[in-house]
Amino acid sequence: MTDRYAVFGNPIGHSKSPRIHSLFAAQTGQDISYQAILAGKEGFVAAVHAFIAASDGLARGANVTVPFKEEAFRLATRRTPRAEAAGAVNTLSFEAGAVIGDNTDGAGLIRDLKNNLGCDPAGRRVLLLGAGGAARGAILPLLLEGPAELVIANRTEETAARLALEFANSFTRLPGCAVDVKPDGMGFPDLAGRQFDLVINATSAGLSSAALPLPTSVFALRCVAYEMVYGRETPFMAQARANGARVADGLGMLVEQAAEAFFIWRGVRPHTEPVLAALRSTS
Ligand code: ATR
Repeated sequence: MTDRYAVFGNPIGHSKSPRIHSLFAAQTGQDISYQAILAGKEGFVAAVHAFIAASDGLARGANVTVPFKEEAFRLATRRTPRAEAAGAVNTLSFEAGAVIGDNTDGAGLIRDLKNNLGCDPAGRRVLLLGAGGAARGAILPLLLEGPAELVIANRTEETAARLALEFANSFTRLPGCAVDVKPDGMGFPDLAGRQFDLVINATSAGLSSAALPLPTSVFALRCVAYEMVYGRETPFMAQARANGARVADGLGMLVEQAAEAFFIWRGVRPHTEPVLAALRSTS
């Protein structure tokens, strides 16, 4: 009996998740199927229920991508602390009438930074660009790594300030989430003269090839610049490179968040290195 999984999104045609999970399954000898499902903009919940109903009791879980992560959060009957902190769910597990919601994006980012890029956020000055869903998911996982500081900078300063305050006031109340550093929120102009060892672009600017008005000073010596977008050279990557930073795109985060979901579902942690290499060789 083959356990069934799916990824829901809109659009979904170019999703790499089915390939990643089938490579994980082959590597670990797990008997699963994993399909991409295009849900209508208003049809996410119905699509999940249809998938479960059509699976003869074998639907075990799902990934959720843009634009349904907030809806998946509401669909979940139980949520992990990191999903609560992210305000979004990218991994669902179907268990005896319960729908458990988790968020593996932040863990994927941290694993990619530490294991694949040799960049441990501990003790580093970290700058997170953006204050939307992608940035929100990264905040708690970054704080738990014990950075020297975490600054959230956004085009709309007020959103960054609000997000920083929200985390400063609330994350310590989550189980196992006592951390020392409180994030600071600001606008891009406030970054003038400040330096960071790790700069993470969680804005969606790269998707429209828009440049960010960043002061060049933000890239400290030996800075790592991380772009969450993958598959293209964004203006942020070009700017970081021009200022001497070591640059990474978000493909590793994609593979690592998938590995974390696979681990939640199957109890086995796949090796990500060959999968990442396979994706890089064909992209
Ligand atoms: P996501 O889920 O990808 O984070 P989102 O919630 O819509 O998407 O958030 C998009 C983020 O990218 C926001 O922080 C947005 O800044 P604003 O809050 O000022 O809108 C940021 N962003 C998008 N396009 C941008 C651009 N051209 N320059 C700077 N920031 C941009």
